[in-house]
Amino acid sequence: MRIDVVSIFPSYFDGLTLSLLGKARESGILDLRIHDLRDWTSDRHRTVDDTPYGGGAGMVMKPEPWALALDDLAAGSDRPTIIFPSPAGEVFHQTTARELSEREHLIIGCGRYEGIDERVFEYAASLGEVRLVSLGDYVLNGGEVAAMAMIEAVGRLIPGVVGNPDSLVEESHEDGLLEYPSYTKPSTWRDRAVPGVLLSGNHAAIAAWRREQQLARTESRRPDLLKD
Ligand code: ADE
Repeated sequence: MRIDVVSIFPSYFDGLTLSLLGKARESGILDLRIHDLRDWTSDRHRTVDDTPYGGGAGMVMKPEPWALALDDLAAGSDRPTIIFPSPAGEVFHQTTARELSEREHLIIGCGRYEGIDERVFEYAASLGEVRLVSLGDYVLNGGEVAAMAMIEAVGRLIPGVVGNPDSLVEESHEDGLLEYPSYTKPSTWRDRAVPGVLLSGNHAAIAAWRREQQLARTESRRPDLLKD
């Protein structure tokens, strides 16, 4: 999978050389390219923003650098998925991550300031499928942190990125429930014993206990998930 990221703070993404995604990039499973939006400006100050029409606080990102960047990155690609992290977008879920992990080419445009000139989204729709995606109901300073979360959630679902694919199946949110609790040695630690069933060797009993735990946790921590 190829992912292009456009940002005015490309060094935010330096951490994506680490761990499983770093290995996936080295092996070529994940072709992640980070770009500086200012490379598509042509003035001496490499200007990417301007004042908003109609007045108001803050600055708006100019459309032309975005259009030039999207033209370049979408060239030769068959309708890439173009994602703009935005608190005004659809909420990103595990199902979104799974869906995006099946795409060949994602382009992620990270806005800053008060946002990107609205016409950019219309223009982008002429090049690919546009998705405005929110990490949740809170406001970040820009799209970068949201983009990193999405890249990690999507990237780890690409076949071969996580060594043992079984570990993907049993995670929180994969089956609409929270994950069951995990324990390791020692079996008693600071007077706290591991639940006896996990030491029983009875696989059916263990599976039943884990399922109960998933339901009980989801009910108490995230009852909204059970409605679905
Ligand atoms: N940019 C600013 N806030 C955001 C959020 N909650 N999700 C995605 N992108 C954002």
